[in-house]
Amino acid sequence: MKVIGINGSPRPSGNTSKMLGLALETLNREGIETELVQVGGTDIKGCRACFACIRNKDSRCATKNDGFNEIFEKMVAAQGLILASPTYFADITPELKALIDRSGFIARANGGLFRHKAGAAVVTLRRAGAIHAFDSINHMFQMSQMFIVGSTYWNLGFGGREGDEVLNDAEGLENMRDLGSSMTLLLKKLHNH
Ligand SMILES: Cc1cc2nc3c(=O)[nH]c(=O)nc-3n(C[C@H](O)[C@H](O)[C@H](O)COP(=O)(O)O)c2cc1C
Repeated sequence: MKVIGINGSPRPSGNTSKMLGLALETLNREGIETELVQVGGTDIKGCRACFACIRNKDSRCATKNDGFNEIFEKMVAAQGLILASPTYFADITPELKALIDRSGFIARANGGLFRHKAGAAVVTLRRAGAIHAFDSINHMFQMSQMFIVGSTYWNLGFGGREGDEVLNDAEGLENMRDLGSSMTLLLKKLHNH
């Protein structure tokens, strides 16, 4: 069983990656394979609404050479998805939004490729607006027949400065450990392990 963690922050070693990394580490320790994929800071394009995915039904996006199809293949093959983003003006980063729009649309166009996967949103923030970003991620899960994994609080971590300020947010970190454990439990139940 595998969980793909997607970092929507353009900082590959910033607060978001620290939070996501902790959830993935916990899953890993409990026997689930994990992979972290960096989407923030890449040249991923938005959906062009060309509907080629609906016509072709080939589980691919017609916009090529921006790394999307490779990431989408990993998402489809995994049993769990954790999508993480810093809060940008009370929402997610444009790179993660582009991934959500295209992957959610192609998954639907091809008969529900995300059906019955486990999903979790993880968001970091400096001060406010994270719940709206958290919701933006969950909206895709909720219309993709996915099971959403929560924790002891919403999956948020506070961090401002570049790097690892989020490591001072003990409650946020504990939440990530709990999220990893809960996703492990759900995956093991779903897949009879
Ligand atoms: C363009 C931009 C917009 C931001 N908007 C918000 C915001 O609306 N609310 C907030 O609390 N923090 C905001 N922040 C701060 C980041 O969300 C926060 O520092 C986050 O932990 C950064 O994660 P990272 O280190 O993984 O990049 C913003 C940062 C940037 C660069």
